[in-house]
Amino acid sequence: MRSWNSSIIDSYQIQESFLESDDSVTHGSIKALSLNEFLQALAMALAARNIETWEHSVLVTKYAVMLGLRLGLSEEEIKQLRMGALLHDIGKIGIRDDILLKPCRLTEDEYDRIKNHPEIGARILEPAKALHSIIPIALHHHEHFNGKGYPQGLRGEKIPLSARIVSLADAFEAMTSGRLYRRAMSLQKTLEEIQLESGRQFDPYLGHAFVEMMEENIR
Ligand SMILES: [Fe+2]
Repeated sequence: MRSWNSSIIDSYQIQESFLESDDSVTHGSIKALSLNEFLQALAMALAARNIETWEHSVLVTKYAVMLGLRLGLSEEEIKQLRMGALLHDIGKIGIRDDILLKPCRLTEDEYDRIKNHPEIGARILEPAKALHSIIPIALHHHEHFNGKGYPQGLRGEKIPLSARIVSLADAFEAMTSGRLYRRAMSLQKTLEEIQLESGRQFDPYLGHAFVEMMEENIR
């Protein structure tokens, strides 16, 4: 089976044909896509590929934006966070069905393949200059504050803030939602887990802020 990397020559050919079609854009026969239209197309592609990943991404976006607002991020930073959270798992488009849709626990080898999705996501976003600011979210949302995450094993504040926020929202959503092979964790247990992992998996300051925010929300 061809891997993502082995199809790089094809991707150059695809790029060339796009460049040729730029002529028709210049001559006005094709209207350029707006950023919003392009985002929607990418989002729909992800939803068509795997609806669960899409539903997960929508909830991750909600939690990430809630935390971003609480932290006092600017309007522009919230906009970037919203786009990045929505597309943080866009790289899963490039993961084989038998792994992506497997209804039971993954083997070590399958898990290693899933771990390619941040880099695949970054490469999907790379051709769109207007989306470069959200590449750090797609690429680094599985880094851990203690340096034990992936793909680059970044540590502490070397991990971009937006990726540290999405990492928390991602883990919270994953723990509180059931999957075919595991039950949903209670809200209280999930918040305890986040407290425990603050300083290890999560940025401690953000972890505490997230738990505080969720506790206030359920009161
Ligand atoms: Fe992910």
